[in-house]
Amino acid sequence: MAIQLGDIAPDFTADTTQGTIRFHEWKGDGWAVLFSHPKDFTPVCTTELGAVAALKPEFDKRNTKVIGLSVDPVESHNRWEMDIKDVTGNAVNFPMIGDPERTVASLYGMIHPNASDTMTVRSVFVVGPDNKVKLTLTYPASTGRNFQELLRVIDSLQLTAKYAVATPADWTPGGDVIITNGVSDEDAKTRFPKGFETKKPYLRVTPQPDR
Ligand code: BEZ
Repeated sequence: MAIQLGDIAPDFTADTTQGTIRFHEWKGDGWAVLFSHPKDFTPVCTTELGAVAALKPEFDKRNTKVIGLSVDPVESHNRWEMDIKDVTGNAVNFPMIGDPERTVASLYGMIHPNASDTMTVRSVFVVGPDNKVKLTLTYPASTGRNFQELLRVIDSLQLTAKYAVATPADWTPGGDVIITNGVSDEDAKTRFPKGFETKKPYLRVTPQPDR
């Protein structure tokens, strides 16, 4: 059964480029991004790992730890990191799991046999402070991910965890948000003192509450 939103992210112990990690213990009570790439020493993956390294301060600001994975061993990740620095200018500054036995890849359903028997797809799992899965993404090997979009989603997840709001299509931080339908108009007046506009009875928008 595939891992679904709201499931507890399975715990595991794995070898990484930063030593042995027990996932839940390592994550602590913050947020985490667990993401897989298909193979070391490949072009798209090289650009992706460099992009994530460049964004590490942004993940830190969001109290979010990042951890990568492929079915290559740690020793391979270590050698590849030099190329990533060389090509992208960014030293890999987060742990990468070596999973040659596919233990974690199987646990998280990161191998899609009809895409490839041997490689992980580009999976992303965002895990919240409660260890529950908040977001899953699956990209094919041929398409590098947009990690700015991942930051945008984390901003939405963190905002909507704190306030009774949802974020509209193409929302970016600072934009208006939607008041969730469980909140009455009366209640909304106190919860959202900046006011709100009722576009439809089911669509009420308000300025982002924490700005
Ligand atoms: C890549 O990262 O470029 C790649 C990896 C595996 C298969 C195809 C492309």
